[in-house]
Formats: sequence, C-alpha cells, structure tokens
Amino acid sequence: MNVLVLGGCGYVGTTLVDKLLKLNYYVKVIDTQWFGNYLYTHPNLFVEKKDIRELNSNDFYDIDVVIHLANIANDPAVELRQELSWEVNVLTALQISEFSKKNKIKKFIYASSGSVYGYKEEDKVTEELSLVPISTYNKTKMVAEELFRRSENDFDLYIIRPATVCGYSKRMRLDLSVNMLTMQALKNKKITVFGGSQIRPNIHVNDLVNVYIHLLKNNVKPGTYNAGFENLSILEIAEIIKSKIESTIEISESNDPRSYRLDSSKLINTGFKKKFNVEMGINELISKFNSGEIIEDDSNYTVKWMKMNNI
Ligand SMILES: NC(=O)c1ccc[n+]([C@@H]2O[C@H](COP(=O)([O-])OP(=O)(O)OC[C@H]3O[C@@H](n4cnc5c(N)ncnc54)[C@H](O)[C@@H]3O)[C@@H](O)[C@H]2O)c1
Repeated sequence: MNVLVLGGCGYVGTTLVDKLLKLNYYVKVIDTQWFGNYLYTHPNLFVEKKDIRELNSNDFYDIDVVIHLANIANDPAVELRQELSWEVNVLTALQISEFSKKNKIKKFIYASSGSVYGYKEEDKVTEELSLVPISTYNKTKMVAEELFRRSENDFDLYIIRPATVCGYSKRMRLDLSVNMLTMQALKNKKITVFGGSQIRPNIHVNDLVNVYIHLLKNNVKPGTYNAGFENLSILEIAEIIKSKIESTIEISESNDPRSYRLDSSKLINTGFKKKFNVEMGINELISKFNSGEIIEDDSNYTVKWMKMNNI
C-alpha cells in the first residue's frame, strides 16, 4: 500500500513515517522541511522537499492513502503568520481534496485538533458538541474540516482531533505542554505554570501514530474522531514532573482560557487500544535528555524558529 504523508518531517510525522516503514508500507513524504529532516533513508521511502501550496495532481499518482499533517501547527505561530496560515491550513484543502479524488485515493486522514472545542465545561467533550474555536489556529482547523467534509463521498474521510501530543520524536517539539514543562524542570529545576487550573487532554505521540495506523489498517467507519486519553490540569502535569525531577513550581497568570476534556469513546469503540501515557512520555524525555539524545535547539520551538528564519 502506498501512503502519502503531507508534513511527514514534523514531530508527529517523523515518528509516523518510521513506524509505517517498519510495517512495510511504501511511503512518500512531501514537506517544506522547515524544521529539518530527521527521516532515515530507506528503500521504501521517497521524500520530496516541497510546499503543499504547490502540489499538483501527479503528487497523488498511485497513492492509496493520504495522511495530512502539514500545517502551521500551533497558536502563536498562526498568530505570527496569519496570511500564510490561512493559505497553508485552509486554502490548500480544496486542491488537496480534488487531487485525492482525481487519483482515486481510498482513505484520507486529516489531522485537525482537539482545540477546536475551545472552552467547554462538559465532563465529556464528544464529537457531537459545538465547536467554539478561540484562537486563529483553532479557526483554521475548523474551516479546513468543513472543506474536507465536502469530499466525504469521494473517499473514506477521517477527521482526527488530537489532544496535545507529548513524548519523544527524532524531530523534537519542546513547545508542547508536557514536553515544555519537563524540559524546564530538567534545565532550570523550576517549572513555570500559566494559570494551572485549565484542563487539557493529552496523548502520547506513539499512541497518536498508532491511531493513524489503526485507521489505515482496519475497516473503521469514516467520520470525525477525538484522540486524547488523559485530561489533566496543567498543574497536575507539573506535579507529576516534580515527583520525578527535583524542582519547584511557580504559578503565573494566564491569558489562555482554553479548557476542555476530550472524550475518545468513539475511537475506542472502533477497537483502538491505547498503550502509552503522559507519565511514560515524561520518563522517556528524562532518559533521552540524560543520554544526550535531546539537545535543545531553537528549532524545537515552532514560533521562535519561524521568526528566526523568516518563515
Ligand atoms: N503536536 C500536537 O500537539 C498536535 C495536536 C493536535 C493537532 N496537531 C496537528 O498535527 C499535525 C502535525 O503536528 P506536529 O506537531 O507534527 O507539527 P510540526 O510543525 O512538527 O509538523 C508539521 C510539518 O509540516 C510541515 N509543513 C508546514 N507547512 C507546510 C507546507 N506549506 N508545505 C509542506 N510542508 C509543510 C513542516 O515543515 C513540518 O515538518 C499538524 O497539522 C498539527 O496542527 C498537532
């Protein structure tokens, strides 16, 4: 089976592509490589450095499944480059759908975000609840979802709303809550928490990769699925880290009201079983930091890197 991964050089993409290759899939990656390329060369892997705004129908030739991860992927980066973000995250959706249809793609998996729910007080935020996107990033995800849904009769469409991802990937992101707070404790012995009471769902990167592979391999009903298994307050995350790394917690005021608990029963009912958790992610980061496999670099911080490189 031939899988096209748009954004395959990113934090999630790098771990996903490695796993697809281990499972003997043929993989084609299209990515601007803004944050580098940490993929190993492999006989079943073809990597093209290219912007998804310049795709053409031939890029989808002979592809069975598309996994679309190529976006400006967090709130501050989207605020920084709004025009670019609407182009990349939203406007490309129509063309990508059209090329997928023309080339008779069987399955299309789009990485939206759990943050489209914005602020929710419900104990269980299921896929049926209304979306209250707060940031521009959340809005780009919501609109792109709608654009992809226009093609739901052309291929099996899976819209995944992942929680905040944590854990180790060869392309490391240290601007995601669990990863960021763990790094602060490792480096400074001090964890700075903004607000602290906001509840956010989390997912380990290996579990998210397994969600994409589950959809690829199995006959899952097309639709929209939440993907997040641990709803924790930021303070609870800091406390777990503190229990493992000698450090102090400092609480500062927050201007980010997003707070919601994801319910992923719909995904679990398709037979998906999670195997990882936040604590395993933290343990992994500690061990990779101590072994020198995580060396902090500006490219680990999306918005800083985009500013520095004028992306
Ligand atoms: N990491 C999370 O916590 C999280 C949570 C929910 C949803 N998501 C979504 O999952 C996807 C992957 O996230 P990630 O954490 O791996 O982010 P990432 O920034 O590490 O990866 C995105 C990749 O896409 C590439 N890219 C961006 N714009 C491109 C363009 N115009 N053309 C070609 N390539 C382009 C980048 O170079 C990068 O390699 C994103 O769509 C993100 O919004 C991530």
